[in-house]
Amino acid sequence: MTIKSHTQSDIHTTAQVRVLLVEDSEPDAELVREYLSEVEGEVFELARVTSMAEATLVLESQVVDIVLLDLTLPDADGLQGLHSLHMCKPRVPIVPLTGLNDQRLALEAVREGAQDYLLKDDIDGHILSRVIRYAIERQAAQDKIAALNAELAKLIEIRTARLAMVDNELATFAHSLAHDIRQPLRAMQGYSKHLLDGYLDFLDEEGRHSLTRIEAGSRRLWDLLDGLLSLSRVTRSGMRDEKVDLSEIAADLIDEFQDTDPGRKVATEVAEGMTVYGDARLLRLALQNLIGNAWKYSAQTEEAEISVGRCRNSGKDAFFVRDNGIGFDSEHADSLFEPFVRLESGPSFEGSGIGLASVQRVVQRHGGEVWAESRPGEGATFYFTIPSHS
Ligand SMILES: Nc1ncnc2c1ncn2[C@@H]1O[C@H](COP(=O)(O)OP(=O)(O)OP(=O)(O)O)[C@@H](O)[C@H]1O
Ligand SMILES: [Mg+2]
Repeated sequence: MTIKSHTQSDIHTTAQVRVLLVEDSEPDAELVREYLSEVEGEVFELARVTSMAEATLVLESQVVDIVLLDLTLPDADGLQGLHSLHMCKPRVPIVPLTGLNDQRLALEAVREGAQDYLLKDDIDGHILSRVIRYAIERQAAQDKIAALNAELAKLIEIRTARLAMVDNELATFAHSLAHDIRQPLRAMQGYSKHLLDGYLDFLDEEGRHSLTRIEAGSRRLWDLLDGLLSLSRVTRSGMRDEKVDLSEIAADLIDEFQDTDPGRKVATEVAEGMTVYGDARLLRLALQNLIGNAWKYSAQTEEAEISVGRCRNSGKDAFFVRDNGIGFDSEHADSLFEPFVRLESGPSFEGSGIGLASVQRVVQRHGGEVWAESRPGEGATFYFTIPSHS
């Protein structure tokens, strides 16, 4: 074993393990020096200082592989010294040296970032060198993990930004495409109406049928383009962050549906006090689609019921919109959120299949999730979360 003792100013970079001992007690320091000299096959360069102020100076100006730190120094009490050294050089491992009576303090130090602790009454050269080696290795591993985590976080940030950009570009593309297609479509609709209005008598049964189909097809295409445009608006529009009363919006929407459909009797229930922070206009659009679906798909149920509330589902605090309408097979629960996906619910349910896609976009833009539970003939429940940080 080779041991070189140094004063504060002459730690060399060539040493294998550069140990900084912060110890005000001369006998204790001597003991450490002796123990280190007993170790076979290791080269330790030991520098000793007697106060926290000196230790900070050394750390700031020289290369140190590890600090052995007495927890009772004249100018630093307990963990205070550990903290300031850690702040000064977070990547240099620190191992407190402690008497039996402050073992608890040493344990706390480990929780605060120290790599280990050594009981003064319990060490020998072998223990000392092992603890030093392990502490250095552990610190290196932790640094590596921290570096990888930081790299990963950066990568996620870049990817998220890229995705948002692509998403926005796609929405812009869909928007302009839908706009461009509308023009020739409007012309087609105009000409087929012209034919229907003025030339129907010149056509035989088959001709009339074809013309009616062209007219119906172009109307359908118009609706789909409308859906595409409204979906791209949801993605592209700016987001506000305001206090939003979902209970008030839901009650309002239910009144509107009831007004446009006065013949229907639906038992409705809206929980009070459902407030979130988000974009009121977008959240209204989401609720409009969910309650609109509940209204539409419970139209054939004799005693229709619709409720809007909050609950815990799948381990999350969620809002829900529930109905006792026709429901659907849960197998389709995820695909329903894709644009233009509609289930075969019969001709009496009109729509473009864009409502739930809009709901999903609104919820995702608020950092939340949306999911559904249902069984055919047993109604459906749509859940969504709006995290409070948004
Ligand atoms: N509450 C519900 N009960 C039963 N089925 C539903 C319910 N909500 C949605 N669905 C099913 O999911 C499909 C997609 O819903 P979505 O709201 O996206 O489209 P839509 O209602 O058909 O048309 P749009 O909303 O564009 O007018 C619906 O066609 C229907 O099959
Ligand atoms: Mg809908």
